[in-house]
Amino acid sequence: MKASLEGEKVTLVPYMREHVPKYHEWMQDPFLLQATGSEPLSLDQEYEMQLSWTQDPLKQTFIILDRELIVGKFIHGEPHVEAMVGDVNIYVNDLDDPQMAEVEIMIAEPKSRGKGLGKESVLMMMAFAVDNFKIHTFRVKIGELNQASLGLFQKLGFKETSYSKIFNEMTLELPMTESKICELHQLIGNMVTHS
Ligand SMILES: CC(C)(COP(=O)(O)OP(=O)(O)OC[C@H]1O[C@@H](n2cnc3c(N)ncnc32)[C@H](O)[C@@H]1OP(=O)(O)O)[C@@H](O)C(=O)NCCC(=O)NCCS
Repeated sequence: MKASLEGEKVTLVPYMREHVPKYHEWMQDPFLLQATGSEPLSLDQEYEMQLSWTQDPLKQTFIILDRELIVGKFIHGEPHVEAMVGDVNIYVNDLDDPQMAEVEIMIAEPKSRGKGLGKESVLMMMAFAVDNFKIHTFRVKIGELNQASLGLFQKLGFKETSYSKIFNEMTLELPMTESKICELHQLIGNMVTHS
């Protein structure tokens, strides 16, 4: 079974079949499609996408659970659809650098934004990727008007490396120096991994 990661505010669980209907519902929202640079998919396509994300060794995706919304006790292996609020993923997509990962984050539920869930999810994903895939640099592409996302990644230390006029999009990167890795592990302190 794939890993789940328990943090302070969020628990990250593998993207399971049971999550697909709600995920598909989220991705009908024009704001979320635009903010994440996604195309709308049919429900069947979303099921295929879920399979491809779980089978592709270059991708790692987690559904974000808001721990306050979990009904009863968290059980590793259960989808806990009642508490799903977004997703976070990495994609090793730079052919010249297999230790570079692009990171994506979405807190889809508006009520769950601005509570630190996005920040904690990205930190946990990065710690997991450093430990398990030896990632040494993270990259993120953000629309220039997406203040929330720019604010989040800049706060984590990401710096702009390029700008695309065609897509009105900035690319930011964060190299994982020894001191950054230490800082990351301290920040996520008591994260518990279930595998
Ligand atoms: C971007 C997003 C993931 C932020 O997640 P979040 O859980 O709301 O953010 P957090 O509460 O963890 O905030 C972390 C930091 O991000 C920045 N931030 C968050 N929301 C912000 C906003 N609306 N405006 C400016 N900065 C913001 C702040 O620096 C914040 O730190 P602070 O609270 O100490 O000031 C969320 O708004 C989202 O999913 N938006 C839609 C999808 C999207 O844009 N995804 C990113 C695509 S690149």
